[in-house]
Amino acid sequence: MTARTLTFRVFRHNPRDPDSEPGMRDYQLDETPGMTLFIALTRIREELDPSLSFDFVCRAGVCGSCAMLINGRPGLACRTLIRDQPARINLFPLPGFELIADLSVNTGKWMRGMSERLQAWVHTASETDVNVLEARMAPEEAEAIYELDRCIECGCCVAACGTMQMRPDFVGAVGMNKLARFRLDPRDDRTDAEYYQMIGQDNGIFGCMSLLGCQDVCPKELPLQTQIAYLRRAMARQGL
Ligand code: SF4
Ligand code: SF4
Ligand code: FES
Repeated sequence: MTARTLTFRVFRHNPRDPDSEPGMRDYQLDETPGMTLFIALTRIREELDPSLSFDFVCRAGVCGSCAMLINGRPGLACRTLIRDQPARINLFPLPGFELIADLSVNTGKWMRGMSERLQAWVHTASETDVNVLEARMAPEEAEAIYELDRCIECGCCVAACGTMQMRPDFVGAVGMNKLARFRLDPRDDRTDAEYYQMIGQDNGIFGCMSLLGCQDVCPKELPLQTQIAYLRRAMARQGL
């Protein structure tokens, strides 16, 4: 099979540079075996254009930094095999987040704001005693929490969400998944009435349209549909 010549059409803009106009720039590369989008972007930066901005840390689908719009669909550059893509690949930064430059967005700032708003930490009245053994947790409880804790905060679900595009204050599937995780945690003393105060509005669980774009694009295949449904039912009971 002859190697394809790939054309990458990439969004370029640096909002901090007064001379930078938003636009698209084309780059061409020959496809190599096993090429990922991360490898292609690295080659573009090393061989064709050192000014191209994009984020990565782990190159293994763990850190969540390299999410972008790949031919219109949110995904991780390091987990995207070029052989599954057409020869023309359009790349945009994830919508819904502050643009740093080109394909790089500030998901960290958004995630921190969401975590603070949802108080995404264990709330407990018990004092920690470092001299006693840790409290035990049933393995099935720990497993259920771990399943939701696999979120890497990549932002793909936020970028895919219709509600998010209309309501910038929406907590997103990532936020609802976070609260679902603390609701499962036996160490967290919060009641459903307290959770309702945080997400019982249209910018929380009742703003979700349940079209599940979030679940379709989540690279960790988190059970967002199930968690959103459980949470909505529990919160609807509080509103009665
Ligand atoms: S829920 Fe999935 S898509 Fe959303 S931030 Fe977490 S890992 Fe990414
Ligand atoms: S199901 Fe809800 S959170 Fe998920 S993409 Fe749709 S509106 Fe957004
Ligand atoms: S570089 Fe870490 S998820 Fe892609």
